[in-house]
Amino acid sequence: MCGIIGYVGNKNAAEEVREGLFRLEYRGYDSAGAAIMDENGIISVVKKQGKVANLAPYLDDISGRIGIGHTRWATHGKPSDVNAHPHSSGKITVVHNGIIENYAELKSKLEACGERFFSQTDSEVAAKLINRNFKGDLLCALAETVKVLKGSYALMAICEGVSAIAVAKYRSSVILGYGDDEYFCASDEPALAGKCSSISVLEDGDLAYITPDGIEIYDDGMQQVIRDKRANTAAAQSLDLCGYPRYMLKELYETPAAVERTVKEFNAAAPKLREALRGINRIILLGCGTAYHAGLVGKRYFEAFARIPAECENAGEFRYKNPVVCEGAAVFAVSQSGETADTVEAARLARTLGAKVIAVTNAPNSALTRLADVVAPVAAGTEICVAATKSYTAQIACLYLCALTFAGEPLTCERAVALTKMPALCEKTLASVNTYSIANMCAGASGVYFLGRDVDYAVALEGSLKLKEVSYVPGEGYPAGELKHGTLALIDGKTVCVALVFDKNLAKKCENAVEQVLSRGGRAVVITNVVGVCASLKDRVRIISLPDCDKFLSPLISAVAVQKLAYETAAVLGRDPDKPRNLAKSVTVE
Ligand code: G6P
Repeated sequence: MCGIIGYVGNKNAAEEVREGLFRLEYRGYDSAGAAIMDENGIISVVKKQGKVANLAPYLDDISGRIGIGHTRWATHGKPSDVNAHPHSSGKITVVHNGIIENYAELKSKLEACGERFFSQTDSEVAAKLINRNFKGDLLCALAETVKVLKGSYALMAICEGVSAIAVAKYRSSVILGYGDDEYFCASDEPALAGKCSSISVLEDGDLAYITPDGIEIYDDGMQQVIRDKRANTAAAQSLDLCGYPRYMLKELYETPAAVERTVKEFNAAAPKLREALRGINRIILLGCGTAYHAGLVGKRYFEAFARIPAECENAGEFRYKNPVVCEGAAVFAVSQSGETADTVEAARLARTLGAKVIAVTNAPNSALTRLADVVAPVAAGTEICVAATKSYTAQIACLYLCALTFAGEPLTCERAVALTKMPALCEKTLASVNTYSIANMCAGASGVYFLGRDVDYAVALEGSLKLKEVSYVPGEGYPAGELKHGTLALIDGKTVCVALVFDKNLAKKCENAVEQVLSRGGRAVVITNVVGVCASLKDRVRIISLPDCDKFLSPLISAVAVQKLAYETAAVLGRDPDKPRNLAKSVTVE
């Protein structure tokens, strides 16, 4: 869950690495570092705790044509200068994304041989091993080293006096970029947006050797292999803030376009999906974080549209419970990045147990895409903010269409047509919702509790997660009916309840929950499109009114409202919602 970048070419590698690190920073920002090799083969290493901006000035005085860089989300060893990558041993310097699970055992063996370790990281073990295995051929030394590593790695190594970067990949993503007499290696596509004309994606077990003359790729048996080259479609302008103060706000405002594109792309994917779902008698949705919450909404779509029982589980839980899965099951693995380790591995496990895997992802070249039987594309576009916004709404739109397809509905049915109207309603919601004064209330609250029933409950969970992630104000999402079974004990004058009410039939019941909060001295906000809801309480409740729509489509607008509330609460508190403390966008470790 770190970001790695490598450059070999005629430009200043320090500058290329610096730019790459800024682009990869959303993968982790506990520390950053770089190693640049000069014309004489001498390597300079700089590394600093904190964000890439702390490191950036130190790269001004270094130049060279070969460089590697790393931005870290700490797993082994606290964030510090010494634990920052790169790590060096002898002539070798490495950067690593992933977790070396047997590092403690390897470290003890190396210590017994007289090696001294300077950091608490698992990655330093790799540097030591490559150095010990180096007999004049860097790639062979790396190949020997990865044979003893257990866990996951995207590893890049350079060696003093050798004009090359050696790369190894296993269960952490690596892409290679081909430019004009220059070559790149990176964790993901945004890092290379606009940088090179084509890319290729390494497979598990692959090794690559990048020199000024080109890139050679080898499989785990050291046989040279060819990996498809595809056009690099990532556009550099998607990385611009375009005048917005934060990516979270920019991406929130991109929701209507993300939903619209997803609907369009689904049309092309539908025949393959329809075919894959033939004979399916069980639906399982898996994901982590926000993607899991999108799965909870999707579960209701399958149940309501196809009247089939559907389950939605957290991918990390699913994979360790010896799940009961057999042929006839379809697993919808939901992941923005397509790289979340728990989701990818849960999907892989389900597939080995006989399930069909459908990747619901925003990342066409991801690990999840590659292992899936079919891809249901989420066309949200690049999302930089660690907290997901537009990708969540686009995932919901995609799952809505998947459920309709499974139910045998044509994409011209009434429900599908109603979805095509939602981008305009998202736009209207963005323009009309003013959450500023409520954000002030939330910013000063000791806890914010999101309540809802049915699909509103699923969005309540996401509303609560979003607020916690970006503002650090504690809270929970609860089914409105559960309030009286525990949460009510938390209600006092310092707490705020946010009730989501988008189902006319359940509106009265939700009103009861709001009454209960008010009578215990709590403050309440109601986000709704049901006319007249809480009318009798309107002097005591803040009401945010959203446009009318079908209850199953309401998550597309209620999500926008809770995301805006979270953003504004973070703004009131002066938090950086794009890079919340301790988090990272892409969690490629388990
Ligand atoms: C991290 C991110 C969340 C994201 C989750 C799943 O926790 O901070 O925003 O929802 O990973 O990511 P995925 O890429 O699988 O959707």
